[in-house]
Amino acid sequence: MAARIIGVGKYLPERIMTNQELEGMVDTSDQWIVERTGIRERRIAADDEGCASLGAEAARMAVRTAGLLPADIDLVICATCTPDGFMPASASLIQHAIGATRAAAFDINAVCTGFVVALATATQFINAGVYERVLVVGSEVVSRILNWQDRGTCILFGDGAGAVVLERGESGGAGSFVLKSDGAGAGLLYAPGPAAAPVSPLEAEGYFVNMDGREVFKFAVRAMDEVVRQSASLAGISVSDIDYVIPHQANQRIIVAAAKSLGVPEERLVSNLSRYGNTSSATIPIALCETWEEGRLHEGDNLMLVAFGAGLTWGAGLVQWSGLGSKLRRRREVAASFLLS
Ligand code: ACO
Repeated sequence: MAARIIGVGKYLPERIMTNQELEGMVDTSDQWIVERTGIRERRIAADDEGCASLGAEAARMAVRTAGLLPADIDLVICATCTPDGFMPASASLIQHAIGATRAAAFDINAVCTGFVVALATATQFINAGVYERVLVVGSEVVSRILNWQDRGTCILFGDGAGAVVLERGESGGAGSFVLKSDGAGAGLLYAPGPAAAPVSPLEAEGYFVNMDGREVFKFAVRAMDEVVRQSASLAGISVSDIDYVIPHQANQRIIVAAAKSLGVPEERLVSNLSRYGNTSSATIPIALCETWEEGRLHEGDNLMLVAFGAGLTWGAGLVQWSGLGSKLRRRREVAASFLLS
C-alpha cells in the first residue's frame, strides 16, 4: 500500500511586509536581513484571518487539485504551533469551513517539524487501512507570537498555509519517515503559553518567540544532514538519487550549508524563503505546491522533505511523486461518460 500525494494547495495572506518596513520598526537593515537569512519579505495575516481560515484556503486548493469533493476526505490533520485557541483544534474548524463533513480531525504540534510529523501520521492511517483519503494542512500565524521589538526573531517569520491530500494507492507515495526529538534543547527556541504557569498574562513575559539563533543554526545543519541520510537509507536510495530536497525554510544559509554537507547541488534545492520567510509548519507544503505549480515535478521524482524546529524536533520523509488527481475522480468521470453515452 502507498500513501500518494494527489492534491496540493497553498494560501498566503495578501499583506506583504518588506525588510524596508522592518527597518522602521527595529534596528536592522534590508542588507543585513538578506545577507544573513535570504529573506526579502514575508506575509502577515489580516486581523480577521487565523490559522483555521488560512488553512481552509490551502485545504480547498488541495482538495480541488485532487479532483475531489470535501466530503470525500476521511481525516483532517492540521500541523500548527499557532492555533486559533486551546480548543477546539484548528483541524475541526478547517473541517467545518471546507465542508469535509465525514472527516475526523485533530491538530499536531511539532512546531516547524509539524508538517513532516503530520504527513508521517497520515501515512500510518492510510497504510494501516484505516482511512483512504487524508488532508494534511500546515498553517501558521507566527506574526501573532512575535515580539516586534526583538530584531533577532521578528525579521525571520511570516504567516501562511499549505496542504496536501493523500490517497491510498498501489505504489510510490510518502514513506521512509525519520522523526526525532530532543527536549533537552527546549530552552533554545520557545514561546510560553498562558497555561504554562499560574500567573496572570500581564505578569508573564509574554507569549513571544524566544530564540538562541546561533545554537539553533548549528543544530539545524547537523539535524538536516542526519535525517536526510537516514531517510534515504531507509528508502534504499542514495542521496544522489534525490531529485528535489524540499527543506523547512528558515534561513537560506542553513539550507545551503545542509545541502553542501549532503553533497546536494543547489539546483535540487527548493527555496522560496526570500518571499515568505519562515512560516513554521507551512513552509514545506507551500514550497511543494509552488514546485508543482512551476511544472518542475515529474512522475517518479524522489522528493526529500526535511524539517527542524523547536522542541527540539527534526525529521525527514521521502515522497515518490506520482502526479495529482484522485482515482475516485477518474472512477466518477468514467461513470459520468457511461451515463451520458
Ligand atoms: N539586524 C541587524 N543586526 C542584527 C540583527 C538584525 N535583525 N539580529 C542580530 N543582529 C546582530 C547581533 O546583535 C550581532 O551583533 P554583535 O556582533 O554586535 O553582537 C550580529 O548581528 C551577529 O549576530 P548573530 O546572532 O551571530 O547572527 P547570525 O549570523 O547567527 O544570524 C540568525 C542570526 C539570522 C537569527 C541566525 O542565527 C539564524 O537564522 N538562526 C537559526 C534560526 C532559525 O532557524 N529559527 C527557526 C527554527 S524553526 C522553528 O521551530 C520556529
